[in-house]
Amino acid sequence: MNILAIETSCDETAISIISTREKSFPDRKTEKSSGSKASVESRRSQVKILSNIVSSQVKLHAKWGGVVPNLAKREHEKNLIPILKKALKESKMFNPSSKDSPWNIFQGESLEEILRKEPDLLKQFSKEIPKLKIPKIDAIAVTYGPGLEPALWVGVNFAKALASAWKKPLIPINHMEGHILSSLLDQKEFPVSNFQFPAIALLVSGGHTELVLMKKWLDYKIIGETRDDAVGEAFDKVARMLGLGYPGGPLVARLASLGGEASKWDIKLPRPMMNSGDFDFSFSGLKTAVLYKIKEINDSKKSAVKKNDSLSKSIKSKICYEFQEATVDVLVSKTIKAVKKYKAKTIIIGGGVASNARLRERLKESSAENSINLILPPKELATDNAVMIAMAAYLRILGAKNPAIKTLSKLKADGNLRLK
Ligand code: KG4
Ligand code: ZN
Repeated sequence: MNILAIETSCDETAISIISTREKSFPDRKTEKSSGSKASVESRRSQVKILSNIVSSQVKLHAKWGGVVPNLAKREHEKNLIPILKKALKESKMFNPSSKDSPWNIFQGESLEEILRKEPDLLKQFSKEIPKLKIPKIDAIAVTYGPGLEPALWVGVNFAKALASAWKKPLIPINHMEGHILSSLLDQKEFPVSNFQFPAIALLVSGGHTELVLMKKWLDYKIIGETRDDAVGEAFDKVARMLGLGYPGGPLVARLASLGGEASKWDIKLPRPMMNSGDFDFSFSGLKTAVLYKIKEINDSKKSAVKKNDSLSKSIKSKICYEFQEATVDVLVSKTIKAVKKYKAKTIIIGGGVASNARLRERLKESSAENSINLILPPKELATDNAVMIAMAAYLRILGAKNPAIKTLSKLKADGNLRLK
């Protein structure tokens, strides 16, 4: 079975095609058990990534210091068709057809109606898609939330148009479920044969910081989350204060790795809510503490130059080191507390910050000390991509009755979609 997935929730336009061992989309009518944990676990399948195209808009948004939703929308519109063609080529499914496909095949809404808010995409779609033979895809998956709504809508409408033109089932996917399942992409077998429930998933991205309890496959309960900034957002804001650029996570992490023994030095930052007794987080105070620290260092300088960018690289790296230690301390400590409370046997992490080397190292140490299974996503698949969306669709195909949406026009993007 081949699944094509589309991801446009933020500033990456991504399309991936994965291939699984099943011959085709399972016909639930002829199967006895479905929708249960057992039906997922009874299937041990191998997943092959045929293509994984991610086009980042980072450069475009960098000059604004963060993602501008309407710019992101326009870029997704421009990029989706070229990325689709690239993904099909890489998967050896790109077959130009000698004659155009007929256009009267749209279910319900016409192409013009589906893409009425994406005129640029409509133009490209009508020109390019009829020229292609319908590829051997069994299902299309698309992220429908959470994220930036203008950006999400482009992917959702594009997926509707494709599903309609190619007559394929369309599976709506929660982006955060994708991040959880990206951790399974390093495993040869899927679902992981030694996967043990309950599991605690730590989700750390630019928009979310959540602890999620999983008692079985496809079952999620948010047990804690940030009350203000997400951890990735805090990394990005600290990077901006230090004049490092955007996105800040990797830049702060790189400088932190030069910070050495800064903890013994004189920069000390708070660990917000570390002992709050619940599983919530708060990173806005930590960010403000960094701001005060920068001000304090600048004020203490005798030099007349008091600009942030006058801070030496060594001081910046010490600030980054201590900031990263503070966030990692809080994240790891709360994750382990959740593990103990819910007697979890497995820890999963996901989201862009899951590619942070220090967080991975500290989680490895703590899970070894507590004899917990730790499942980490491959670093390159921790940040936004469409492989994880295809994986989530695959798991839903295995576990749910039929995860495809029945009426395409009913599917809506939902910027605040929550895991459940
Ligand atoms: O999951 P993601 O790609 O997009 C969202 O869904 O938000 O996460 C992006 C976030 C950004 O805030 C970025 O700065 C952060 O992940 N990030 C990192 C690292 N790599 C990316 N934060 C800390 N350390 C990293 N190595
Ligand atoms: Zn994400």
